[in-house]
Amino acid sequence: DRIAVLHGVNLDQLSRRDAGHYGTLSLDRLERTIGGFAADLGLRVQFFQTNFEGEYVEQLHKLDGMADGIVLNPGAWTHYSWAIRDALEIARLPAVEVHLSNVHEREEWRRVSVIRDLCIETVAGKGPDGYRDALARLREELNR
Ligand code: DQA
Repeated sequence: DRIAVLHGVNLDQLSRRDAGHYGTLSLDRLERTIGGFAADLGLRVQFFQTNFEGEYVEQLHKLDGMADGIVLNPGAWTHYSWAIRDALEIARLPAVEVHLSNVHEREEWRRVSVIRDLCIETVAGKGPDGYRDALARLREELNR
């Protein structure tokens, strides 16, 4: 199965962000780690990152016929982008929401996710390992 891993706004700056929340991996190393998880699970992953909301939306549009499932970490867009929510609905693919940090125990505004109910699961606060959980959950979903 083919899984699209979509990183949103500011995720390209991971190595410059608060290590207490986001750990010390750069996005490049995070993606290599995720690639290793995918290989272990027998999944094919394709990565995408942008800081432009419209590009993120268009990437979701393009997944039709290109991916079987989605792992998405839209960064701060998670909390307010109805456009990304609508695009995820259009994509009609099983999706898992991932956050490196524990968004449930930070500022109040991070507790809101406008995509949560479109996702089969939300994983937060597990750092890079959260992506392994997300991929495993998608594999289970796609193999039923
Ligand atoms: C994040 C959490 C968001 O609240 C934040 O805006 C991010 C990253 C995470 O992975 O923990 O940019 O999605």
